[in-house]
Amino acid sequence: MGAKLLCFCLAAALLAYYIYAPIPEDIEEPWKVMFISASFRAVSDLAAVADWLGLMHYMEGLMLITSAEYVPPTSDENVTVTDTEFSNVAVRLYLPRKPSDGLRRAVVFFHGGGWCLGQAGMRSYDHLTRWTSNMLNAVVVSVNYRLAPQYHFPAQFEDVYSVTKFFLQRSVLSQYGVDPDRVCVAGDSAGGNLAAAVAQQLLEDSEVETKLKAQALLYPALQTLDLNLPSYQENANKPILSRSLVVAFWSEYFTSDPSLREAMASNRHIPLESSHLFQFVNWSNLLPEELKKGRVYTSPVYGSPELAQKYPGFLDARAAPLLVSDAQLRGLPLTYVLTCEHDVLRDDGFMYARRLRAAGVPVTHDHARDAFHGAVTFVLSPTELAVGHRLRNRYIEWLNENL
Ligand SMILES: *[C@@H]1O[C@H](CO)[C@@H](O)[C@H](O)[C@H]1NC(C)=O
Ligand SMILES: *[C@@H]1O[C@H](CO)[C@@H](O)[C@H](O)[C@H]1NC(C)=O
Repeated sequence: MGAKLLCFCLAAALLAYYIYAPIPEDIEEPWKVMFISASFRAVSDLAAVADWLGLMHYMEGLMLITSAEYVPPTSDENVTVTDTEFSNVAVRLYLPRKPSDGLRRAVVFFHGGGWCLGQAGMRSYDHLTRWTSNMLNAVVVSVNYRLAPQYHFPAQFEDVYSVTKFFLQRSVLSQYGVDPDRVCVAGDSAGGNLAAAVAQQLLEDSEVETKLKAQALLYPALQTLDLNLPSYQENANKPILSRSLVVAFWSEYFTSDPSLREAMASNRHIPLESSHLFQFVNWSNLLPEELKKGRVYTSPVYGSPELAQKYPGFLDARAAPLLVSDAQLRGLPLTYVLTCEHDVLRDDGFMYARRLRAAGVPVTHDHARDAFHGAVTFVLSPTELAVGHRLRNRYIEWLNENL
């Protein structure tokens, strides 16, 4: 009897721990969000245990979500879907079947997942890219770039860059009936990071003659420098992306060496020699007052120069697009930025939108006050949310009007 009671109490406590998560008051459908958040935490905790037992790397444990969500390439009445390769990189290609009056638009899409997870064939991404192709009658190229921990920076960036560069060739665009004046890059989260980095690099690449029409960045990660921005402090434990998970993703992008993760967790990974870079992410100047909520900016605390020497990637603008000068932002294409209030990465998006505007780039910045990280991908049962539909439709509407 005693043992049964103990088991019952333990189970109840575990359940309460998982179900109870502080869900912000203004979030719609709180029970569903709690369920989504609890599921993510459960998988994350199981992955942490498996890592601790030496069974698998933590990210490989999380990657099981990606594998469970995989759907094969399946064509429907509107879109032909195939898995193929562009420039030796795997891509999932969506070609509209509906007739078109002239040349089509195209979206080169990079999925999210912290440079470690995700894939174009995940049910939620397959749905989003298919929807994009169908609604815009556009060609969509969704890139399966290499992932950490097997591959570190710059592999992820190099893969998405070479696919984009390959696709932008006149001969390739014409093969797919794409208008060279109407191509954009887009991505969510780590994919938004890659899209921003690709758009910047293309400006400097004299071999590419086709210019991007637009970039669409959905709650992107854009800087490695300051991992204690107000949004990092305020949203450290919001669904579905905690501060510690962002730190794990960022550090894993560059190395599996835990010393970088530990330094990033305490925000002491930047050496004094790189202090000039802080001007590009100085939230004291770059954030609106209502996001600071009375917080006072304090000077950065510097770390030893060793980490930056060993892993220079984290100071590279191809990983952290906010680190370029204002002059390098000029000439970037029309930009869409989505930020969510309850998101660790909120302030990255705010600062980039602000700096782009100051550099003369036309920016549409949508800020969703009642949303959390990843919202656009929650449009399918059993994790279907009204806010997901709303934000997804808004993004597609922007592309429809601007691409
Ligand atoms: C094909 O497109 C039509 C019109 O946009 C839509 O009503 C239909 O649901 C689409 N079919 C699929 C399988 O998505
Ligand atoms: C950040 O901006 C504030 C206000 O303009 C300024 O006092 C501070 O020196 C800046 N810090 C850095 C590291 O750029």
